[in-house]
Amino acid sequence: MTADTEGSLQVTDPRTGRTYQLPIHEGAIRATDLRQVKVSDDDFGLMSYDPAFMNTASCRSAITYIDGEKGILRYRGYPIEELAESSSFLEVAYLLLNGELPDKAQADEWAEEVTNHTFVHENVKKFIDGFHHDAHPMGILVSTIAALSTFYPESKEITNDALRHHQVVRMIAKMPTLAAFAYRHAKGFPYAYPDDDLSYTGNFLNMMFKMTELKYHPEPVLERALDVLFILHADHEQNCSANVMRAVGSAHSDPYMAAAAAAAALYGPLHGGANEQVLKMLNEIGSVERVPEYVARVKRGELRLMGFGHRVYKNFDPRAKIIKKIADEVFEVTGRNHLLDIALELERVALGDEYFVHHKLYPNVDFYSGIIYQAMGFPVTMFPVLFAIGRVPGWLAQWEEGILDPEQKISRPRQLYVGAGLRHLSAGSTGGPK
Ligand code: CMC
Repeated sequence: MTADTEGSLQVTDPRTGRTYQLPIHEGAIRATDLRQVKVSDDDFGLMSYDPAFMNTASCRSAITYIDGEKGILRYRGYPIEELAESSSFLEVAYLLLNGELPDKAQADEWAEEVTNHTFVHENVKKFIDGFHHDAHPMGILVSTIAALSTFYPESKEITNDALRHHQVVRMIAKMPTLAAFAYRHAKGFPYAYPDDDLSYTGNFLNMMFKMTELKYHPEPVLERALDVLFILHADHEQNCSANVMRAVGSAHSDPYMAAAAAAAALYGPLHGGANEQVLKMLNEIGSVERVPEYVARVKRGELRLMGFGHRVYKNFDPRAKIIKKIADEVFEVTGRNHLLDIALELERVALGDEYFVHHKLYPNVDFYSGIIYQAMGFPVTMFPVLFAIGRVPGWLAQWEEGILDPEQKISRPRQLYVGAGLRHLSAGSTGGPK
């Protein structure tokens, strides 16, 4: 197998002695070009086998760029560090969806559009009421996102630009409302309605925590910190849930159904559910003294260090660096979360340990975010919900890019069949081997 300077890969098949030129474009060959590599005319042709998409690009995308070796993350070309420093979450959502940051007038119009759609139909409260008192808010969120599909049947018209935009606005606007209602149901608190005077994130805090006061005033440092956390979670190219969003979207399901499926994927402990697991882990460790013993168990393969490791980042997760800084600002307001000491010690021990160095395991976005959420007053079960609120603009941008990409068809991988060969039932029998 050789690659020439003209941008093609020369492959010789020793089974037949035939040589093929496979064009290389944008650093990839087309998997379907392998199909010409056959041993006979009725041979299906060569496939590539890639469980978990370890080395397969499923799309061309202009949204998010990651260099995992260098720890680079950019949305539409802008470094995540600059966006976290200077932009709001809604501006970043606009950027992801439209390709450019909004100017002042566009930002105001966009914020107003979103603010106008924060209310949910009163029936939503009725079916949230039907959930058990200890229902996990992520289960409620997944269900209520899917239910939005029944309120907005026109969302099925996915080729209509105006209608697509309408659903995008609705979903971004209603996510905090659904999330806060899920929380208040669990607490047995009355639902707090959106307050249009507040920012996107300030209003979410209002719907979460408003009690008897006439007007809720979010604490500015916490409001900004949560806004930045949403920015850090807003997109991450072809991660598990974005891949689900695109796959379900490729069947032309409406965006609510696709986002419900994406949220279900995010709930998994290897994905967005990891922040919840980190808190459980830190509580289980319990004290700084017990860190070495826990790390030893991880090295023996008894368990995984949650909030560590990433499929793409192999040196550091740039989001984790920003989060550490936010943690300091938040703890100045809330007081220090005692779990931070355990987390810092865990990081120190792990980063100096040969196992973690060899496996290139570093703290990821979920390692410190949970400690901050807890200090802000969010219960652990809400952590993946917070991740989901942040990730919605990314899901929608990925979904829309897929819908508008003329090369995309229904997502349908191949398989390597390894089951039984042809066999037959005996005549007249209802089953069993012949
Ligand atoms: N603790 C201990 N060992 C680990 C860990 C960990 N957290 N992560 C990976 N490894 C080891 C794993 O045992 C394997 O070792 P070996 O080669 O000796 O068998 C090696 O590292 C490669 O692991 P992998 O599972 O093949 O790697 P992956 O790219 O498929 O998995 C991951 C990536 C994020 C699922 C994994 O690192 C993990 O399970 N981390 C803990 C869960 C977590 O924090 N998830 C949040 C990810 S960031 C936010 C998001 O994307 O949602």
